Amino acid sequence: MYIGSKHGDPMQSPNIVVIIADDLGWNDVSFHGADEIPTPNIDALAYNGVILNRHYVLPICTPSRTAFLTGRYPIRAGMQGFPLRGAEPRGIPLNDILLPEYLRRVGYTTHLVGKWHVGYHTRNYGPTRRGFDTFVGYYNGYIQYFNHTLYESKQFGYDLHRIVGDNHTIEYNYKYMTDFITNEAKNIISSHNPAKPLYLQLAHLAAHVSDAEEGMEVRNWGKTNATLGYIKDINRRKYASVVTTLDESVGRVIDALRRADMLKNSIIVFMSDNGAQTEGILQNYGSNYPLRGLKFSLFEGAVRGVACIYSPLIEYSSRVSSQLFHITDWLPTLYSAAGGNPNDLKQLDGIDQWSVLQSARDGKSIRKSILLNIDEKENSAAALIGHYKLVKDNSEYQKYYNYSGNNPLYPKYNATNVLSSSAASAIASISTFVLNANKIMQLRKEATVVCKNFTNFSNCKNRTCLFNIYEDPCETTDLFMKYPEDAERLNMFIDHYKSVLMNQTNAPVDPAGFPRNFNDTWMPWLPDDYQSISEMHFTMNEVTS
Ligand SMILES: *[C@@H]1O[C@H](CO)[C@@H](O)[C@H](O)[C@H]1NC(C)=O
Ligand SMILES: *[C@@H]1O[C@H](CO)[C@@H](O)[C@H](O)[C@H]1NC(C)=O
Ligand SMILES: *[C@@H]1O[C@H](CO)[C@@H](O)[C@H](O)[C@H]1NC(C)=O
Repeated sequence: MYIGSKHGDPMQSPNIVVIIADDLGWNDVSFHGADEIPTPNIDALAYNGVILNRHYVLPICTPSRTAFLTGRYPIRAGMQGFPLRGAEPRGIPLNDILLPEYLRRVGYTTHLVGKWHVGYHTRNYGPTRRGFDTFVGYYNGYIQYFNHTLYESKQFGYDLHRIVGDNHTIEYNYKYMTDFITNEAKNIISSHNPAKPLYLQLAHLAAHVSDAEEGMEVRNWGKTNATLGYIKDINRRKYASVVTTLDESVGRVIDALRRADMLKNSIIVFMSDNGAQTEGILQNYGSNYPLRGLKFSLFEGAVRGVACIYSPLIEYSSRVSSQLFHITDWLPTLYSAAGGNPNDLKQLDGIDQWSVLQSARDGKSIRKSILLNIDEKENSAAALIGHYKLVKDNSEYQKYYNYSGNNPLYPKYNATNVLSSSAASAIASISTFVLNANKIMQLRKEATVVCKNFTNFSNCKNRTCLFNIYEDPCETTDLFMKYPEDAERLNMFIDHYKSVLMNQTNAPVDPAGFPRNFNDTWMPWLPDDYQSISEMHFTMNEVTS
């Protein structure tokens, strides 16, 4: 079926593994230039692959995952607003076809390990009825790292499930979540039937907080203090520990692919769902430096996310790409890499970028513009055309945090650690190209965002700002008055999307869905044929249009 590959087995579509980190900040991977948190495995993946340095996402979790799974801007599905809460009766509308479903139709086996967070009020909204053969993970925004409970709306409940088809069991264990996810992924890989290509989505809890008050839980305090004790702020140290454990997981998964002899025909994507929440609600002490703003805002710190792709099928690897990429592009891009026919896909906002990724030296961007989001309740919106970005954002999370993650007291970045990581070793064993320390340092420098003007930041509260994000990636200098025509063009672009926007379907939490009704577990609680207001709205629209 697959004919695009020069290196892999020409008969077999590539295995696809997508690793999604939660609330991981721009500056929290060491390939972006900070020495503070060493991430040798993620770095090895990035340096051996393509660093996607203009990878845009939605500013928060549920919208971002909706965009990834549907290939459509979440405004089309009423999913653009505040993240889904436990027992909130809404989800991605059922007439949206999701990425795993498309891949299943072209012969993939599909697995989700980790976070879902796009709806589960009826079983029909759950992952195994939306394209995943199996799901092991949690329905909600986050859980405790060890005991896998979520406390929300003053309700405690377990939230760790194993679903195969319609067989739903609750997983009771106290394994550290990052390790649990890793082991499940390794089992899926080692028991995978090579007759079919694999789609594995690994959606980590890391580096999200696990509790509004307690913050993070590290796997091992002794080791955390021994290896990261140079980070004096204890909350930042905890965060760093969670991130290094995530990094270890990435190495283990890549190694598992090599052991199963699957790596040579695999595509591995690593990305964060949105920027870090340095402070405020559910603060994790991550850092988006030198980008402005936090999760929940529409500034670069929230929407320009960490991302890279590695695959032996990519011809020109080991480069930093400035190709404009949006999270909605993954659906058509991966579908195309899988050998699917792009004509099968309907009404996407995502653009198929596979050919550019696979065979261009540095892809000229096929994509010229991005709608970053419209939140009609918050009266916020942002979009990007060419070099200009318009931001209308009144959130409190638009501040600039001047914390570089570099300090003479931190261990200096060590390319040798990258080269000896599990990920690098696994990749080296199937690769003819040899990565070396010089190349690593060169790529790292290229991937580091440097800002010119740090002293003055235009105030964008209660007003619309325009930035040239290529000249001014840190959004310091508002150009709204200087370039009114560019601002107007962006305004019109946003207005155009307002006409297809579906109002947010966010609904009050339904006590019928509280865990106390289901043996202290967060569970689907409404009958399969339940029709939410948003689904009725959809049906009506279709009838009238
Ligand atoms: C889970 O862990 C949290 C934080 O450590 C604690 O508050 C909660 O009581 C625990 N819940 C259960 C059911 O063990
Ligand atoms: C359902 O899944 C559980 C746990 O994986 C397994 O023990 C059980 O045999 C399964 N039941 C059926 C009917 O397949
Ligand atoms: C780790 O360091 C913190 C802060 O210095 C301290 O409170 C904690 O007891 C230490 N834990 C261990 C196991 O060494």
